[in-house]
Amino acid sequence: MHNVRKIVDDLYWVGANDRRLTLFENIHPIPRGVSYNSYLLLDKKTVLFDTVDWSVARHLIENIEYLLDGRELDYLVINHMEPDHAASIEEITLRYPKVTVISTEKAFYLMHQFGFKLENIKKEEVKEGDTKKFGKHEVVFIEAPMVHWPEAMVTLDTTNGVLFSADAFGSFISLDGKLFNDEVNFDRDWIDEARRYYTNIVGKYGPHVQHLLKKAAGAPITTFCPLHGPVWRTDLGYLLDKYDKWSRYEPEEKGIVLAYASMYGNTEAAADLLASKLVQKGITNIKMYDVSSTHVSYLISDVFKYSHLILACPTYNLGIYPVMHNFIMDMKALNLQKRTVAILENGSWACKSGSLIQEIFETELKDMNVLNEKVTLTSATNSVNVDEMDALVDALVESFKK
Ligand code: FEO
Repeated sequence: MHNVRKIVDDLYWVGANDRRLTLFENIHPIPRGVSYNSYLLLDKKTVLFDTVDWSVARHLIENIEYLLDGRELDYLVINHMEPDHAASIEEITLRYPKVTVISTEKAFYLMHQFGFKLENIKKEEVKEGDTKKFGKHEVVFIEAPMVHWPEAMVTLDTTNGVLFSADAFGSFISLDGKLFNDEVNFDRDWIDEARRYYTNIVGKYGPHVQHLLKKAAGAPITTFCPLHGPVWRTDLGYLLDKYDKWSRYEPEEKGIVLAYASMYGNTEAAADLLASKLVQKGITNIKMYDVSSTHVSYLISDVFKYSHLILACPTYNLGIYPVMHNFIMDMKALNLQKRTVAILENGSWACKSGSLIQEIFETELKDMNVLNEKVTLTSATNSVNVDEMDALVDALVESFKK
């Protein structure tokens, strides 16, 4: 049975939700599901904007068949070729062989690489600034490389200001019947998952997102139609502000992510003591995580949100404790920068983790301010460590004033 929703005159959401997938991209947990959004324009010509993951292709087909009501599908616009959206392209072309597929040169190349059999299908290659009229609706194609793959583009309907924004402005979480941003409490229920989606999926490409935001700045946009999550028809500035901060690697809030790893509880106890001292000095905005039991995507999301980071971990095989090393490498891969970093290290003999962490942050990540006031445990907290912690807390309090 079809399940569609009208967005504006002539335009419908024809996507579907997936609550059975546990790991998005087979990496990131999605305990609240995800939506794959696809949009159908019914004008003089009929136009489908992107498809969906193969797992929900049947729902897409039912929705399109219902709305087309016997009409042909004239165009399929592919803004983004990643298989969570593009997996059903071939199915659409098999069912609607007269369709013309519109996309970028790189996207057609990727379709070929993925093995889609489109030899007998009409194709129209578009580039930055090209326009196309479908009847009363006219669109302009805007290239958006690396948001999130190199072939990506966004499409703006200049008739009504609807922006088909591909991965930009998307989010994890299934829609649960609520399609529009004003049908959910986004700031309460969605923002953490939207941030986790952006930072882990697109976070590395902040300069490319900035480039797209600048190109879109002057456009009369009324609606964001992303490929995941709610359609935005009010308060676009709220999300634009978040995207601007995330893509410039500026924190949203002054606060501390205290991420610890602990083999026998002693590093954890030290992290607890440090947190307690911080709170008593007035720093209460602290998020504490056990890196061993927290998926790294959640850690990444919060280090993009907060201004400060404390890393606490043992030495392991003369190196950084592996789960902490993985977290640090993920921060590096995702281009995190402009944070103040404090270190608490532990080592029962040959303590190395702190100096190795400091070296990575100072030489491999950008614009990181590593505080000199380090805490060095030799197995468990001793009286010297208490003094080191007090000095570190004073340094963090000072840096919060800036
Ligand atoms: Fe939802 Fe880059 O794909």
